[in-house]
Amino acid sequence: MSEWEALRQQCMSCRACALAETRTNVVFGVGTPEAEVLFIGEGPGANEDAQGEPFVGRAGKLLDDMLAMIGLDRTKIYITNSVKCRPPQNRDPLNTEKDACRGYLKRQIELMRPKIIVCLGRISAAELIKEDFKISQEHGQFFEKGGIQMMALYHPAALLRDPRKKPETFEDLKRLQQKIRELCDHTPIEYA
Ligand code: URA
Repeated sequence: MSEWEALRQQCMSCRACALAETRTNVVFGVGTPEAEVLFIGEGPGANEDAQGEPFVGRAGKLLDDMLAMIGLDRTKIYITNSVKCRPPQNRDPLNTEKDACRGYLKRQIELMRPKIIVCLGRISAAELIKEDFKISQEHGQFFEKGGIQMMALYHPAALLRDPRKKPETFEDLKRLQQKIRELCDHTPIEYA
């Protein structure tokens, strides 16, 4: 069994925090673990909990559109979340829940060794880039951490709530596309 598969199986039966009591499915991630680009959201919502896959609701449809704008799709990247089980009522994950789940994300990153990490929203940017990350000021900027280029985009759910943020996000996506062209050897970027 690969180390990735062993990690996935361990995560699928995790009971390290109280979210295990209320979840339907653990949402480990989707895409290609060998990919060079890793997208990280906040945590599963109701649709993701029901289907066991990240970003399958309305926000997920918008994420797919954003990926398509820069010639990406789910098969060319990997997508996961900061926490793998749904926080009830879609509240922000608690510190205790993030603490319990952090090891899975850390190990996913160690095994994948992505060249670029894209944080979707403030919660994962605070987890990965820096604790006091200011999404409205720092979205679209690249930060180097441990040899990985990291950036944050507005969360697709935030773009659905406030479409005025979409033009800035389009600029951020173009910066991401440029960075992929510079750094990634195996990520085909097709012109949309
Ligand atoms: N929002 C997230 O942050 N992650 C998902 O998987 C779905 C919605």
